[in-house]
Parts: sequence; structure tokens; C-alpha cells
Amino acid sequence: MAILTILVVSVLAGLSMFAVRGAGNNQLEVYSWWTGPGEEDGLAAMAKTFEAANPGVRFVNAAVSGGAGSNAKAILASRLLANDPPDSYQRHAGLELLDDVRSGKVQDLTELYHEQGWTKVFPKGLVDNLTIDGRIYAVPVNIHRANLMWYSLKTLKDLGLPGPPKTWAEFLQQAEAIKAKGRTPLAVGPEWSQKHLLETVLLGELGADKYERLFNGGLSWLSPDVTAALGTFAKVLAASDVKSSAGDWQPQLDKVLSGSAVYAVMGDWSSSYLEQSKKLRWKTDYDVAASPGTDGVYDFLSDSFTLPTGARRPDLARKWLVECGSTAGQNLFNPLKGSIPARTDADAGLYKGYLGWALQQWRDPNTRIVGSLTHGVVANNAYNAEIDSALGLFVQHGDQGKFARTVEQQFRETQ
Ligand code: GAL
Repeated sequence: MAILTILVVSVLAGLSMFAVRGAGNNQLEVYSWWTGPGEEDGLAAMAKTFEAANPGVRFVNAAVSGGAGSNAKAILASRLLANDPPDSYQRHAGLELLDDVRSGKVQDLTELYHEQGWTKVFPKGLVDNLTIDGRIYAVPVNIHRANLMWYSLKTLKDLGLPGPPKTWAEFLQQAEAIKAKGRTPLAVGPEWSQKHLLETVLLGELGADKYERLFNGGLSWLSPDVTAALGTFAKVLAASDVKSSAGDWQPQLDKVLSGSAVYAVMGDWSSSYLEQSKKLRWKTDYDVAASPGTDGVYDFLSDSFTLPTGARRPDLARKWLVECGSTAGQNLFNPLKGSIPARTDADAGLYKGYLGWALQQWRDPNTRIVGSLTHGVVANNAYNAEIDSALGLFVQHGDQGKFARTVEQQFRETQ
């Protein structure tokens, strides 16, 4: 029966894809994983603007659900392999782009950058993350922050907690008191969210310098510092609901909203979910702090769009990329998406509440910026996939030594 259902669904999906692709050529197909609450609003607004500016052109939103691209990336990989790319697809700035560039799947956008003056309006560090072998391959639409801990002010008050923990040691102390009151200290979601948690624990425990060295090969996963940080991660996980984890990041946050769990570590796409979908207000209903031990550090990622080789409508794709990189596009998209603009000249006044704070932190010259592991900045896809498998086993069986040895060895094998 299950096989039959899968077959029928695949055939229907195939037919609908055929209908989309066969529906005439006057359309732009944009591929992302922005569906569902808190994800789709910014994209929908951009799509509407695109269609208004290009009368007669249909914007085909080919989004595949699943936080952090957990499903979308796999489906995209098979489409790229079959030389059936959309007209533009989402990638993160950073090493996530490397495979596409090396295998010739994306076109060089350096000329478009010069034409649009983008090298002057995007931060240099960001452009560096979009540059491979001297050429630029994607257009960033935003900046997100990964190292954040979300909580409900009411729950903290009810439990008599003084505030969010400033270190993971303090979190573990609070966790005892929280458990004694019958609540879950930390809500987690699917595997990618557990890696997201690992990344923030490593950052908090090691500090920015060592975190960076860990991912550029300058610090061993077997070193005493990392061993201690992984030990902390294991304890943090034990204080979470990992055995009954949520299916995605929105239900993960729902546990915090209902008060069954006290904290959740998640990126600031959460702010859009809380503000737009749940109609909650920063500092009234919910609050957020840098994840323990990372105050003053911005663990960044950036959603960017590409021009695939073999795109059916490269002319429309270029127009889409111009919208993504424009001041108007970024001002429209980001307040809805719960991110801040990649452009340095975008209007700060549009960013209220949490986003105002995020923008101020991002632009503060004293803020230390590092790149996200889970969201494509500091590790290539092969290494990230190896970390995923090893982490899955670590979470299941708790063998920390094996995890560290595997990841250490895989770093060398995947460079
Ligand atoms: C990230 C992406 C964000 C957001 C998040 C949750 O990888 O960069 O824009 O979509 O996943 O799905």
C-alpha cells in the first residue's frame, strides 16, 4: 500500500512538473525551501513584485518544504545531475557553493556584480564567501544569525529563572531546576537542528578563534578543548527532548511557546515565525539572547541565489537576481523573512524589534563574525554530509570518541 502511494504521488508530481515546464516558456522557476509559516512570506512578496515588473511572466515558486533545505537540497541534486535546473536556486554563501562551481553547474556572475555595483554595497567578507577562484557565483538576499537562544518571558517568570544562561555551564545548572519543575530545559528539532545546536555549543565553549580553526584544519577534533566542548554538547543534549524531538524548527519553537520546554537554539528566521505567524512581540511575549558563551559573536549565514548553467530563461533569471540584490528587493524581503539586508546601504529604519537589534549587532565594528557550519559557510558539502552521519550515530549511541575520530579523519578526506 505504502509503495503504491509513493508511486501515485511520484507520478502525479512528475505530471505536475511536466505541466509546469510545459506551460510555455514565459516563466521563471525559482527553487528554494521557503514554504510554510515564517518562511514563505518574503519570497511571496518578491514573486509578486517580479510579476508586476515583468508583465506576462509567471513566477513559478518551486519551493520544497523542510527546514534548512533538508529535503530541497537532495531533490535539487538529482535535478542538477539530470541537467534539469530551475532558472535560479537557493544556496548559502560559503563553501556550500563549491561543488556547483567546480562541476560547472552555476554561471559566473562577476560581470553582473560590476554592472550593478554590488562589490561596493555588499560587505567584503560576504563577497569573499561568494567568490571561488576569483569569480563570483551567487547573489545574497540577506544575512541570518544562527547563534540565538529563544524563550518565553512568561515561562522564565513562572519558573523564577533570572534570565537566559550566559554560559553552557549555567544552562546545565538551570536545567536541573527546570527538570525538577517538570519541564524540558531545551527543545530540539530534526537532525539538522541538532547540528545547529552542536555548532553553537562549540562556538560558545571554544570561542570564535578556535571555532574557526576547527573548521579550517587548525584545531583537531581530538584536542582537549574540543573534547571538553563535545562533552558539554552531550550533557546539553541529555537536557533536551532529543528522544521525542520535533519534526521541524517551527514545532520545536512551539514547545517553547506552550511552555513545555524553556529554551530553543535556532536561527533568526524564528523571528518571522513568532512575529508574523504567531503575532507575538519581542520583549513582551518572547525574547532572545546570543546562545550561551557567544555574546558579541555573530554566527552568520546568507541565503543567495544562483544562475544555473542550462537555465531555460537566463534573461529572466538575471532580472530575478537583480531584484534579489537591489535595495528595494532587500527592503521588501528581509523584514518579512526575519533577516537583515546583505546590502550595507539598506534602510535601517525598516528593521524593528528583534531585527533592529540584529542589524545593530551586525553593523557594530566590535562584533566578531564567524560562519555557520550547518548553513553552508565553513564546510564543504562532502564534509558536512560526513558530520551529519557521524552526528546521527553520536546522538543515537553517545560514543563521543568515535564521533571525534570520524570527523577528524573525514576533514582530511573531504578537503
Ligand atoms: C536556513 C536558511 C534560512 C531558513 C532556515 C530554516 O538554512 O538559510 O533562510 O530557511 O534554513 O529553514
